[in-house]
Amino acid sequence: MNILMISPGFPVEQPFFTRGLARQGHDVIGIGDQNEHDLNQIAKGALSAYLQVSSFTDESAVLARVADFANKVRIDRVECTWEPFMVLAAKLREMLGLPGMTVQQTIPFRDKEKMKQVLDQNGIRTPRHISTTTKDGVREAASKVGYPICVKPISGAGSADTYRVDNEQHLEEILPLLGHVQEVSVEEFIEADEFTFDTVCVNGEIKFFNICSYRPRPLMGRTHQWISQQTITVRDVLNPFYASGRKMGIDVLRALGFRDGFTHMEWYRKPDGEAVFGEIAARPPGANTVDLMNFANDFDVYEGWAEAVTRGSFSQPINRSFNAGHIFKRARGEGRIQRIEGLESLMADYGQHMCIVDLLPIGAQRRDWKQTLRSDGMIIVRHPDFGTTCEILDQIGMRLQMYAG
Ligand SMILES: Nc1ncnc2c1ncn2[C@@H]1O[C@H](COP(=O)(O)OP(=O)(O)O)[C@@H](O)[C@H]1O
Ligand SMILES: [Mg+2]
Repeated sequence: MNILMISPGFPVEQPFFTRGLARQGHDVIGIGDQNEHDLNQIAKGALSAYLQVSSFTDESAVLARVADFANKVRIDRVECTWEPFMVLAAKLREMLGLPGMTVQQTIPFRDKEKMKQVLDQNGIRTPRHISTTTKDGVREAASKVGYPICVKPISGAGSADTYRVDNEQHLEEILPLLGHVQEVSVEEFIEADEFTFDTVCVNGEIKFFNICSYRPRPLMGRTHQWISQQTITVRDVLNPFYASGRKMGIDVLRALGFRDGFTHMEWYRKPDGEAVFGEIAARPPGANTVDLMNFANDFDVYEGWAEAVTRGSFSQPINRSFNAGHIFKRARGEGRIQRIEGLESLMADYGQHMCIVDLLPIGAQRRDWKQTLRSDGMIIVRHPDFGTTCEILDQIGMRLQMYAG
């Protein structure tokens, strides 16, 4: 097959999905806004052609470029595994008359209000929610929904512009911060633990699924700079503890009519076990979570996805030998990284369980902690026991310190 892959070089996971398609024996044509020379080597090695566009924001120019190319070379599929271009991918498919998700099928995965409307119609438990475009609308929605509430953009990502609001006075404090957001969802705030349910599907049937535990909830990690966010793939996915979330995940896929590819769902587990829907995307999770799946199973789910979407099968061996987790570390202080403490003793204690240590080097400029999920460095560990995996990550959280100045 000739497959058009959107943004094959960025972000970091994309070259691996691109390589997965090539390893399945397909010709992969990349389309991206990166200069061809700057493309990651893995992406470069996997592409048979590359269409460079000046920007993805001018959609009609991208469509025209692809239409022109398709006059010369037959395109069989359009694939996209990155959130911002899911609708563009659907438009390209419609233009070329190709199978895969249409614009109409994609929208409920992008627009959190439409998503919840479909799920509500299907009897799936969502937080009470009202969407609005004005400040008065937020005030009115807040009084209807009742405090505490969560206010967030209907098309957000990475917990950006997302707030827990406890009372009217607090609402007045955050309203000015939302000026640039066009439409927000005002939701019942669900006090719960937070998990993912990620799948690779063929014809609507789940071929592989993964559950991650977030420690703490992403909104907490995003709100407090001192927190080092952890995400851990659960080895014991069939444990009854996760049963309500697994069932919800299956119901959600059915309600939205999802057929082929990766999905990434987030769900909340209340202390009484009830599952409440968070959100779903028709793409893999970001921020190295796909790598966690690989470390947990010693397989290549990038290629597994490519096989699923192009051949309708999934033959990567799912062995769930490990819980695999990552912790994102934030440096203390501003400026450049001056020193890193604690790594040697952690390596001595847990080195055999560490898969990746990827910290900013001494001298590097600290990243803006509000703009990056990966913060100033990432460590991935794995262990057969879930509690031990958490313990190692907690030790890293406490003992590893990066100082900037
Ligand atoms: N209704 C809610 N109740 C409690 N927490 C919420 C609610 N909605 C969102 N959050 C918190 O905010 C985070 C980000 O919201 P989410 O809908 O997942 O958007 P994003 O696309 O930014 O990840 C969630 O991971 C969760 O911690
Ligand atoms: Mg989310």
